[in-house]
Amino acid sequence: MSRVTVEDAGGDTIWQIEHDGNSYPNFPHIDSITNIHNLPIRDDDIFICAYPKSGTHWIWEVARLLVTGQTIQDSVEKGVGMLEYMPQEEVTSLPSPRVLNTHFKLKLLPVDILKKRCKILYLIRNPKDVVVSYYNYMRGLPHYKYTGRWENYMQYFMLGKFSYGSWFDYVLEFEDMKRTYPDLPVLTLHYEDLKEDPLREIRKVNEFLETGRSAEFLLEAIELASFDNMKQKKSQRVTYRKGEVGDWKNWFTVAQNEWFDQLYRDKMADSDIKVRFTLT
Ligand code: A3P
Repeated sequence: MSRVTVEDAGGDTIWQIEHDGNSYPNFPHIDSITNIHNLPIRDDDIFICAYPKSGTHWIWEVARLLVTGQTIQDSVEKGVGMLEYMPQEEVTSLPSPRVLNTHFKLKLLPVDILKKRCKILYLIRNPKDVVVSYYNYMRGLPHYKYTGRWENYMQYFMLGKFSYGSWFDYVLEFEDMKRTYPDLPVLTLHYEDLKEDPLREIRKVNEFLETGRSAEFLLEAIELASFDNMKQKKSQRVTYRKGEVGDWKNWFTVAQNEWFDQLYRDKMADSDIKVRFTLT
């Protein structure tokens, strides 16, 4: 394990942690990264799994509201249940049922998740919006110490050179794990579907988690977890940037888009995953 810098295509550096051939953000508690495999899991744990910048904060909030029945918004951030960020003793002391979240690949998580058949909310967002979101996030957060330019970032990011590795590897591994463990309780959600029809999607979550919340509550939860409301109430402002589908069009050049589309076709040729890059 080591804290290292990696360079983007223009030589600007990003701080990250490398461990066992994988890279992670420059988080403060290294033990939380290196010991994740040993974390004790409970039968009623709920996991939010997503590649970074897929809307993890949103789904974590929705799940937390459904589980607790809370109708007042607070400033608590999803970092509270984030396995690789929180000190492990704090994760261990959270009351049940815990709504945990992580960007670790499924195969790197505690094996008990598979054995105990914990419920997993798995969120996918189109990777063009993901890379734009991550670029802005890295530039906005001090621990990355990154000041690079978009044109030096996008391609390196898509090739998996930065923390958490490649979006393609993440979603393809998850698809493979779902095939290997077909009985694993996983609800797959798409950011674009949530934007299109939040009520339809939150109903699925309510059913999947067996939280039994009323239609009225679901509407209230949608409002509490709306982008505007979270941006206003939550402590980590930099996370709530735009919250839209298709912002990538303001960033990708024609050449970058062609490069990306070819890469996407190559990498996803054998995958059944369908993502929408726009809502129209
Ligand atoms: P943008 O940078 O495109 O705005 P994550 O939670 O996985 O870190 O992802 C962050 C992205 O999700 C950001 O995207 C953020 O704005 C968006 N997001 C967070 N909360 C949201 C909400 N309540 N509704 C819609 N988008 C949200």
